[in-house]
Amino acid sequence: MENKSWKESFTELQRLVLPPDTNIFNDLYGGRLVEWIDNVAAIVAAKHSRRRTVTGSIDSLFFLSPVHMGDIVHLTGRINYVTRTTMEIEVNVHSEEGLTGTKNFTTTCFLTYVAINQDGRPTEVPGLKMESEDDKERFAQGEKRSHVRRQNLEEVRKRIPKPM
Ligand SMILES: CC(C)(COP(=O)(O)OP(=O)(O)OC[C@H]1O[C@@H](n2cnc3c(N)ncnc32)[C@H](O)[C@@H]1OP(=O)(O)O)[C@@H](O)C(=O)NCCC(=O)NCCS
Repeated sequence: MENKSWKESFTELQRLVLPPDTNIFNDLYGGRLVEWIDNVAAIVAAKHSRRRTVTGSIDSLFFLSPVHMGDIVHLTGRINYVTRTTMEIEVNVHSEEGLTGTKNFTTTCFLTYVAINQDGRPTEVPGLKMESEDDKERFAQGEKRSHVRRQNLEEVRKRIPKPM
């Protein structure tokens, strides 16, 4: 499989915050934003791997500023790092006030997508082309996070509760 550039899967999405997306205070639900984040990342994962993929984990998800009804939400998804079967995708989100154009940084997070075959077993994904110093730095940082993530996954697997 040939290595691919992050540019081949980079994805942008914009959404207008409407009443079904908000709580009684007219602010965007966190859960709705997570749905949009997962959607952007799913597109990146599909374009990079051209395989069936599933969300494995979402980490370092911080909501840094509220988003209000009528705001425009901009999401970008970019692949940073891959292993044999997984892809780390960074999603950044900012909001824009429709009437003034004022922008606020809202959220950043990392999603790990796992490519699977017809039997649901992890399967290979293309590697990432390193075209700039920034690409190399992102890959190196992704590798560090991947080690931590694997340790966390092992911990979680040890704590799986017995069925009631
Ligand atoms: C993700 C899934 C396919 C992994 O299957 P598995 O047999 O446990 O996979 P393995 O243990 O062989 O791991 C394969 C790779 O995926 C990584 N991985 C496995 N589960 C992961 C998870 N939940 N989050 C992040 N990475 C994960 C492993 O670390 C490993 O990475 P590596 O190649 O870099 O070492 C399986 O757990 C699954 O189907 N989960 C449900 C996914 C889903 O339905 N998501 C939608 C939300 S409900």
